[in-house]
Amino acid sequence: VSDFSVRTSIGSYRVSIRAGSFPEVIAPGRCTVVLADRFFAMALANVELPVVFVDADETHKNLYEADRILAEFSDRGLTRGGSLVAVGGGIVQDLGTFTASVYMRGVPWTYVPTTLMAMADSCIGGKSSLNVSGTKNLAGNIYPPAAVVVDPEFIASLSEEDVAAGLGEAVKIAFCGGAAAFERYLHDAADMNNWEPLIEGVLLTKKRFIEVDEFDRGERRLLNFGHTFGHALEAATAFSVGHGVAVIVGMLAASSFRRLHLADGATHRALREYCRSILERVPDLGSRLVDADLEVFRAAFLKDKKHPPDGLRLILPKADEIGVEEVSLPRSAEVLGAVQSALSEAVRETM
Ligand SMILES: NC(=O)c1ccc[n+]([C@@H]2O[C@H](COP(=O)([O-])OP(=O)(O)OC[C@H]3O[C@@H](n4cnc5c(N)ncnc54)[C@H](O)[C@@H]3O)[C@@H](O)[C@H]2O)c1
Repeated sequence: VSDFSVRTSIGSYRVSIRAGSFPEVIAPGRCTVVLADRFFAMALANVELPVVFVDADETHKNLYEADRILAEFSDRGLTRGGSLVAVGGGIVQDLGTFTASVYMRGVPWTYVPTTLMAMADSCIGGKSSLNVSGTKNLAGNIYPPAAVVVDPEFIASLSEEDVAAGLGEAVKIAFCGGAAAFERYLHDAADMNNWEPLIEGVLLTKKRFIEVDEFDRGERRLLNFGHTFGHALEAATAFSVGHGVAVIVGMLAASSFRRLHLADGATHRALREYCRSILERVPDLGSRLVDADLEVFRAAFLKDKKHPPDGLRLILPKADEIGVEEVSLPRSAEVLGAVQSALSEAVRETM
């Protein structure tokens, strides 16, 4: 059992990690309304609280769905003195954060993450992002939960690919956290039957980043490691490679880029070996990656929000120690050539 708090500018919230803890959260009297992924409709059939269900796909992560949810909260009797429990992965988290923040100008909410990505990464930090007219995550805000309850028993029903995606985001945070965090992670990841230590270690590392930079203006941006390559790869494969898996390939590509372009002797051997071992769990990955459209990749890579207008800004693994750093580069043909070569090298490694 692990229990710690996360400090924010509007107070602190508790995070508890305990297998089997979920039923206590939805006991009558603990909250007023539940917002849940429809995947759990059967599991929640006998709950004595009103439940608002959400179809957890990207086409529902938008302001229209938020409007429907807010109306349902009202129909189900949620008042300003009430509270919400959101149960699901990142999609339910995004909708739950946003609707809790605006319903009657804000009601307290508890988040129960049900995917490994949400348990080990997104459940702390308080961000919401909604899609707008097809543009992913264009609108959003920051509204921390009152509590986060992590019940690793939800992991049992996830697909191998969803587990791999969660491990990708988790190892990214651990690596960004430096040598001690990364070593602890590799140790904890060796026992895949006991998730609590791994999730705790990763969340405690993420806590360090978000407490010093709640609004994503400095240190927290380092957690975008693997994301410039990863987002571009998602687009280039028409999203047949999902976010978490694309980030793993993105970390390999960022490491290759450092070696190919900066040529400062870095190998990042332990990270690369671990990333390759997770990717082996993903079925048919090679065939999805070889179909990547390089033109789409290049356009998406250049469009990344983090770049300054006339240059590139990449988060790269450091040369001589575990950890990452932000590196600014010109938009030259040479740099873009190295980006492409790094991607090809990372893709070849997954074959
Ligand atoms: N708010 C944030 O800080 C933040 C951070 C990262 C990502 N996100 C967002 O999160 C979304 C991705 O979230 P995700 O990967 O957690 O998954 P998800 O919410 O997109 O769900 C993916 C699928 O898994 C199913 N599912 C959920 N829990 C399950 C379980 N225990 N067993 C079996 N199936 C289950 C869902 O029904 C859905 O079909 C994206 O929209 C992304 O933009 C938000």
